[in-house]
Order: sequence, then structure tokens, then C-alpha cells
Amino acid sequence: MGAVLAAGLTHFPPLALPDERMADVFRWALRDPELSEEKRDPSTWTNRLRREWADDEGLRAAAHHREELRLQFQQVRDALDEFQPDVVLIWGDDQYELFREDCVPAFAVCAFDDLETCLWKRPFYSGRPNAWGEDEDTSYPIKGARRAGKKLASELLARGVDVAYSYEPPAGRPMPAAFVNTLRYLDWNGEGFPHPALFVSVNCYGRRLVKHKGGLAYLGDIPRGAAELDPPSPTPTRCFDVGAAIAEVCAQSASRVALIASSSWSHAFLNEKSHFLLPDTTRDRELFSLLVDDKPAAWRDVSLDEVERAGQHEMLNWFCLAGAVDRLGMRPRWLNLIESDLFTSNKVFGVYEIAGGE
Ligand SMILES: [Fe+2]
Repeated sequence: MGAVLAAGLTHFPPLALPDERMADVFRWALRDPELSEEKRDPSTWTNRLRREWADDEGLRAAAHHREELRLQFQQVRDALDEFQPDVVLIWGDDQYELFREDCVPAFAVCAFDDLETCLWKRPFYSGRPNAWGEDEDTSYPIKGARRAGKKLASELLARGVDVAYSYEPPAGRPMPAAFVNTLRYLDWNGEGFPHPALFVSVNCYGRRLVKHKGGLAYLGDIPRGAAELDPPSPTPTRCFDVGAAIAEVCAQSASRVALIASSSWSHAFLNEKSHFLLPDTTRDRELFSLLVDDKPAAWRDVSLDEVERAGQHEMLNWFCLAGAVDRLGMRPRWLNLIESDLFTSNKVFGVYEIAGGE
């Protein structure tokens, strides 16, 4: 029997921008021509948003946010290094990065070989400074796990879980933030992430994946007719079950596998009811409480509509994790919810282990 460790974290792209740019997504929301004057007025904002924005447009708060996230990444990294995985499997959303008009899998095992990628040439970063002051041409090496991915896809298909698989990133397309930002943040000093990585892509952006190219769109640009939207994401229930199946395969393998869900929770730019200004913190707290109370199975009953209404699209990665920890009876070693109104999203970090040891 293989040993399994599980963890959750964020791949929050603005974390790789300098402090003065970390609130850029909020600035984008303020520029919406349809945003009312009232909502632009700081006196109508939440106390936390006003506190974070302060008198420097979030500059000091960004430095603080960076440091609190860095410490969380360090804690997850320490747990990984102590566990010494043969492979680190990451559930992440593909935001119109690898998968586009030509084919969009609900789930894809990205069984890549070792590769080199330019983190700062990707669309979100190109032409902008990055927090580490690295040149745009800096190449970042990633250890792949093609053999492990091939085996995982084979086992899942044999169990009736119809995943797609990919051996190579399509030429000319950017590596998803959900995967490579995760590795870079776990490798804060840029020395190279030492563990082989196996990526499992989840189509979290569903109805707006191709339409909005996995990115931002103002309310006025979101079509209301179903015919103009793309087909939906897999449901949270399906993600939960696929996560459970993956955990089962890993536990029955001879390898030591770390399973990681990579995404922030509710995203302000997906939370229509806040006019994209704020994440849905109430809903994030509800789901977080279920994990803290060791009730991950309750997540299986959440509907896709609930997820989308809360701007929690990317949490489908975490629904895979919830299914995994539920199936293996894993318990949280620790879980932390870091809330922010200014910096796009609330973030959760945590490490799970199999109850009673490996
Ligand atoms: Fe993402």
C-alpha cells in the first residue's frame, strides 16, 4: 500500500506581482462603467476593505498578505519534504491555457515529462515586473511524472472514470497558473521544486471558459442566454467522486503520493452579486466549517449553481480533495482560512493525513 498525504493551497496569480500591483483585480472592478457611484464610495465598503485599502491603496496590506501567504506555503512545503512523496498530484483549473476551442476535457491527467517553462512570459505576467525581479526569459524547470500519470489514467479508466490524458502541453500555450504558480510558491526562493509533479486539470470555468477565455468580464459583458454560454463544469458531486477514485488508486499503488488542491476560494471577479468587488466570505466560512468539523462528505451535496453563485468556481479543485480525504478517512493536521476583501479572494491552506498514521 502506498502512503498518501493531502493538502490545499492557492495559486493566486497577483501574489507574483509586486506589492503595488497586488490589488489590480480590485482596481479593474472599480473601473466597470456600470458600477454605481455609491459602490465606488469607500464609505460604503466593508470595514475590512477600507482597512486593507487604507491611505496607500493597499500597499502595506499587500506586503502583509504576501508574508502571511508565504508562511502558509512554507508550512505546506515542510509537510511535503517531511513526507518525501514520489509524486505530487495537483488538481488545478485550466483557465483557457492548455485547453481551448479544440478540446475541453472535464478532467485531464496531464502526464508530462520533465519540462522547462518561462513563468513570466505567460499572458498575466508578460510585460509586467514580477515580485522576484526575474527576467521574462528566466526558464523554470519542472520535474514531470509521465509514468505515474499514465498509470493513474489507466486505473481510473478501468474503474469507469472517463478521464482524458495528455503527454505534452500543446505547443505555444501557457502552462496553467494553477499548476506552475503552485510549484513556484512552494519553491519561494526559486531553487527548484524537488518533487515530480503530476497535474490533473479540472474544467472549473465551465460555462464561461471559452466565452471569457477563463478570465475577467464585467456584468454587462456576460450573456444571459444559456445558448451563448459554454457547456458547464463537471458538478461538485462528480468532482468529489473523481477525487475519491484518484485517492483510492493512489492508496492502492506502491508510491507515496501527495494530493494537492490548488485554488483560492470565492473569487471577487466571479461573485456577480457583489458587482465583482468582494468574495462571498459567508459561503466560504460555511464550507470551511464543514472541513474543520471533519464533515467533508457534506460537500458532496453542494450544487454547481451554489458554487457559481458564490464565485467559487475554482473550488471544484477542492471538491476533488474533499472526496479524496473522505474516501481515505484522512483528518486535517491543520487548516487555516485567510480572509481578504481587497486581494480578490479568501485563501485556505491545510494538510491532511491518514488517521492513525500512514
Ligand atoms: Fe485559477
